[in-house]
Amino acid sequence: MTTPTLYAPIDLDRLPRHVAIIMDGNGRWARQHKVKIAMGHRAGTETLRSIIRNSSDMGIKALSLYAFSTENWGRPQTEVDALMQLILDFFASEIDELCEKNVHILILGDKSALPDKQRAALVDAENRTAQNTGLCLNIAINYGSRAELARAARSLARDVQAGRLSPDDITEDKLSSRLYTAGMPEVDLLIRTSGEMRLSNFLLYQCAYAEFVFPTVLWPDFDLKQYHQCIAEFQSRKRRFGKREE
Ligand code: IPE
Ligand code: IPE
Ligand code: MG
Repeated sequence: MTTPTLYAPIDLDRLPRHVAIIMDGNGRWARQHKVKIAMGHRAGTETLRSIIRNSSDMGIKALSLYAFSTENWGRPQTEVDALMQLILDFFASEIDELCEKNVHILILGDKSALPDKQRAALVDAENRTAQNTGLCLNIAINYGSRAELARAARSLARDVQAGRLSPDDITEDKLSSRLYTAGMPEVDLLIRTSGEMRLSNFLLYQCAYAEFVFPTVLWPDFDLKQYHQCIAEFQSRKRRFGKREE
């Protein structure tokens, strides 16, 4: 593993196991720089590259990135098209290096509603990295937490209907095993850039006890220093999980 440079005092032995990031602020960045919105999204992919590499180098177990929500289809068609193109470009340019870095890619969300080319690229990325044992990189595309929970409920209901499962045996573990994030640790740290303080339908279930950090910087300006500061902030928090502190 590459030893990463640290830009804030971080204890590498107490890293969050699962970091989730709502990459927000590309539109405002584009407006600030008086460029087309697509340029804002493109600038955002540069941040994405460096955060993925650095997370892998630090030894983070799972990184979940919100790239496109089920609600984002409601944006102007030109913007949706630009985002879809960026998805293709991103995987085309990154997949070899991610493979080399032993990164395991998983897409969170319903791929069936995506255009054929995008779906094929995502399936290919998942297949090519399926045996990798390093960073679990979850990219949420056409993802919504409510849709994910409804899908999990349908899957459990089918098992009950087929007589494979009793309703009394539906536990929290069973439910989480039907989520896209099955088998992954819960989110420890959730970061949302751009100063917005909401989940916007991202990992509602998985964030039950996550620590939230809301840097005000816009996503294209989010750098490793700010990332490491978020992790240092996480490490300074007292997590109680409902218990009484000693
Ligand atoms: C986040 O940036 C990226 C996606 C939703 C794909 P936005 O495009 O939401 O940026 P703002 O919120 O308009 O600044
Ligand atoms: C959430 O950001 C979705 C992604 C970052 C992909 P939005 O910008 O779409 O969320 P709202 O509309 O501000 O809640
Ligand atoms: Mg936004």
